[in-house]
Amino acid sequence: MTIAQAITELTQVLGDRLTTSKSDLDLHGQSEAYFPPTPPDAVAYPRSTEEVSQIMRICSAHDCPVVAWGTGTSLEGHALAINGGICVDFTKMDKILRVSPEDMDCTVQPGVTREALNTDLRATGLFFPVDPGANASLGGMTSTRASGTTAVRYGTMRDNVMGLEVVLADGRVIRTGTRARKSSSGYDLTALFTGAEGTLGLITEITLRLRGQPEAISAAVCAFDSTEDAVNAVITTIQMGIPMARIEFLDKASAAVCKAQSGIELAEAPHLLVEFHGSETSTAEDATRFGEVAEEFGGTDFRWSSKPEERSALWEMRHRAYWSTLAAHPGCTGVTTDACVPISQLARAIEDARKLIDDSPVPGYILGHVGDGNYHSLLIIDPNKPEDKAAAKALAKRMSEQALELQGTITGEHGIGMGKLPLMAEQHGDAWSVMGDLKRTLDPQNILNPGKVVQQNG
Ligand code: MLT
Ligand code: ZN
Repeated sequence: MTIAQAITELTQVLGDRLTTSKSDLDLHGQSEAYFPPTPPDAVAYPRSTEEVSQIMRICSAHDCPVVAWGTGTSLEGHALAINGGICVDFTKMDKILRVSPEDMDCTVQPGVTREALNTDLRATGLFFPVDPGANASLGGMTSTRASGTTAVRYGTMRDNVMGLEVVLADGRVIRTGTRARKSSSGYDLTALFTGAEGTLGLITEITLRLRGQPEAISAAVCAFDSTEDAVNAVITTIQMGIPMARIEFLDKASAAVCKAQSGIELAEAPHLLVEFHGSETSTAEDATRFGEVAEEFGGTDFRWSSKPEERSALWEMRHRAYWSTLAAHPGCTGVTTDACVPISQLARAIEDARKLIDDSPVPGYILGHVGDGNYHSLLIIDPNKPEDKAAAKALAKRMSEQALELQGTITGEHGIGMGKLPLMAEQHGDAWSVMGDLKRTLDPQNILNPGKVVQQNG
């Protein structure tokens, strides 16, 4: 491996858009979670697919590792260059290349963020619905198969990516998928690269499905005596066909920190936060019907609003929940679980997770995308208590294993990165070795995000 030679040749192609400055290396070596800083050897800022292709040709000629970077919001250390090499930062590939209102789709470069796309789409009456909370790049969201609070209605990135342009490890550029709404043509390579975490190729264009902006939106909040009551209310709401655009759970501990950080009045109890998209009449009706279901399961303190400022405050509070839990423990970092189970198992899974937290020395909060059976435990690590890190990681591992025992998955939306890698064999068995076979076919030198997903490290 001659990284130095690769850097020399990349500088000839990219000029000052190939940098080894300390500030750039430090920025791209950071993680938003508990992983130690791991800077790359250089950061490249390509402006075009052709430049990405040249980067890959040079890096494959020199066996140099390549890690893609979007906005750095991964909670699982996806973008950490654990074998060194080149970090390819896509922030300069941030153009919306095409919007088709008739076909309700668009094509973007990977550095376009979710918010930038939605700002641009405002005048068209369309929007891109997948909302992980953070203003992540669409390249990063595609690479991790992200979802978030709206998946219960609009699906995940898997359901909303129609096609891709991908630069392979050897520099070849391929196109996957089609703009047609359905296709039975061959293997679904779009699905393969969506969620591959940059281990099989670098995504340079994404064709996305768009939706019509709802005419009206209403949001509701409701307290429950127990997790089981809240989850049963969700199951009944889904079974009755009441169309929710978001339905989120906060346990009692999360509700308390969210209340403290936002100033929004919440009872000392588990809560559901809900949103409905539709017409003025349908959203009012949906909220009323949901209120009736909630009441059936002992829901109290039911409030709903269609005022944009109240709705924004509610979702701002929810999307900031992870940071609010950390703010309640100054100087601490966190380990996050991302288990997802069949919804019939969700109340049990959350109660088991709460019991594990209560029996441990580590403070913890549980919240999640309850309509999808996806829940996060946010476990706090105090740097002054070194034993906390090991305890939090062991707890997180146990919670992921519990999800597998309930026929669920270790990650519903955050991806594998580094944090969930040790559980891949347990979840997938022989299917994990097939993933390794695919990796070896597409990246025989193991230069694309080595040490992630399939653990072909070194
Ligand atoms: C969320 O749901 O807020 C995000 O996935 C981050 C998290 O809380 O783990
Ligand atoms: Zn989440």
